Amino acid sequence: MTATISIDGKGADYPVHAGSIGPEVIDIRKLYGNTGRFTYDPGFTSTASCESKITYIDGDQGVLLHRGYPIEQLAEHSSFLEVAYLLLNGELPNQKEHDEFKYLITRHTMVHEQLATFYRGFRRDAHPMAIMCGVVGALSAFYHDSTDIHDPKQREIACHRLIAKMPTIAAMAYKYSVGQPFLYPKNSLSYTGNFLRMTFGVPAEEYEINPVVEDALDKIFILHADHEQNASTSTVRLAGSSGANPFACIAAGIACLWGPAHGGANEAALEMLREIGRPERIPEYIARAKNKDDPFRLMGFGHRVYKNYDPRAKVLGAAATKVLDTLGISDPVLDTARELERIALSDDYFIEKKLYPNVDFYSGIILSAIGFPTSMFTALFALARTTGWIAQWTEMMEDTDQRIGRPRQLYTGHGPRDYVPLAQRG
Ligand code: CMC
Repeated sequence: MTATISIDGKGADYPVHAGSIGPEVIDIRKLYGNTGRFTYDPGFTSTASCESKITYIDGDQGVLLHRGYPIEQLAEHSSFLEVAYLLLNGELPNQKEHDEFKYLITRHTMVHEQLATFYRGFRRDAHPMAIMCGVVGALSAFYHDSTDIHDPKQREIACHRLIAKMPTIAAMAYKYSVGQPFLYPKNSLSYTGNFLRMTFGVPAEEYEINPVVEDALDKIFILHADHEQNASTSTVRLAGSSGANPFACIAAGIACLWGPAHGGANEAALEMLREIGRPERIPEYIARAKNKDDPFRLMGFGHRVYKNYDPRAKVLGAAATKVLDTLGISDPVLDTARELERIALSDDYFIEKKLYPNVDFYSGIILSAIGFPTSMFTALFALARTTGWIAQWTEMMEDTDQRIGRPRQLYTGHGPRDYVPLAQRG
C-alpha cells in the first residue's frame, strides 16, 4: 500500500508499512528529497521513530503487551527477572535459561569498591536521582571491558551489569542519604528481596523479608519495566544513536525520567495526595485542575498514550489495599486517592479529556507504606525501567536501519544579518 502526498500540485507515493498490530505508518523518509519540506510534529504525537518488537500499547483500549504478553498476566504470574529476560530475549525463559540468567545477574550485583567513594562527593541531602545520574554515567569509567558497542558479547555484558547493579546503586543512594553504612548484596536472595535488604537492612542484624512486601515491590518493578517509546526510552535511543556507550545512554534516560511529567510524577502524586489530606478537600483540587489559569494538574492522572484506564494503575490499585492491610497501615491517603479517582472519573472535564489514573497514582502509596521516602520513588522507577531501556537500546544496536537521530526544525528566528560591533549597539 502507498499514500500519496501532494504539494504544489505535485504528488508522490510513499510506502505504508503495516505492523503486526496497531496503526500503519507512512514512510516519509523521501519526503524532504521529493518536496524540500519537513513534517512538523512537536512532542512526536504522530511520529513513529523506530521499528520495535518489544512493547505494544493500545491507549484507547488500555492494553499493554510485552513481547505479546498482557501486563496483567505478567504482574500476576511472573517475576521481575523473568520479565527482564523476556524484554531482552523476546521469549519467556525455560527453567534452564531462567536459572542461568538469574545466576548471571546475581553474579554482577556488586559494584566496584571505588565507586562507593563517588557517593561521598555528594551532599547527604542530594536527591537520589541526582546521584543515580552521576553514578550510572560513571560506570563507563569502571567497566571498560563492556563499552565496545560493536561487540555483541560486550553489549550483553553491559546489559547484565546494568540490570544487576541498579538495585545496589539505588540502595546505596538511600543509605547515603540516611547516613547508614552501605550493605553488600546477598546473592541467596531474590532480585527484589536483595534490594529490600540493601535498602532497609543494617549490618548489625539480620533483615527479615516480608513476602507480601517483596511481592508488591516485584510487581511494581514489573509494571515499570518498559513502556514503548516514552520520553526517557527515546532519550536512551537518541543518545545511543550517536554511538555513546550503554552506561552513558542509561544515565541520559535517568535524567529524562526525573521530570515531573514523566517518572517524577509518582513523587508528585503522593505529595499532592498528602496535601489534599482528606476527601472533603478534593472538590477544591478538582476545580484547580480544571482552571485554565492555574498551572496545577492532578498528578497521577492523564497519559499521552492511554485514553482509557492505565492497566498498570488497575493492578497497583488492588496491590495498594493488600499491602496496607498486610502491614496493618490505615493511611488516609489511600481513602483520599480512592475518592479522588471516583470523583474525577465521574466529572465531565476528565471524561471529555479521557483523563484516567496512571501508573503513578497508586505506586507512591505502596512505596510509602513499605517505608521508602518520596525522594526514592523515581529512583525505583529508574531501577525497573533500566531493563526496558537496555532492551530497546540493544534492539536499536541490532537494527541495520539504525542511523544517528537528527530531527529537523521549523526555524522562526532572524534571517541572515550583519554583526554589529559592541560600541555601535543601541
Ligand atoms: N490534570 C488536569 N488536566 C490535565 C491533566 C491532569 N493531570 N493531564 C492533562 N490535562 C488536560 C490538559 O490541561 C489539556 O487540556 P486542554 O486540551 O484544555 O489544554 C488536555 O488534558 C491534554 O493535555 P496535554 O498536556 O496536551 O496531554 P499530554 O499528552 O501532552 O500530557 C501528561 C500527558 C502525562 C504529561 C499529562 O497528562 C500530565 O501532565 N499528567 C500529570 C503528570 C503525570 O501523572 N505524569 C505521569 C505519566 S505516567 C508515567 C510515565 O509514563 O512516566
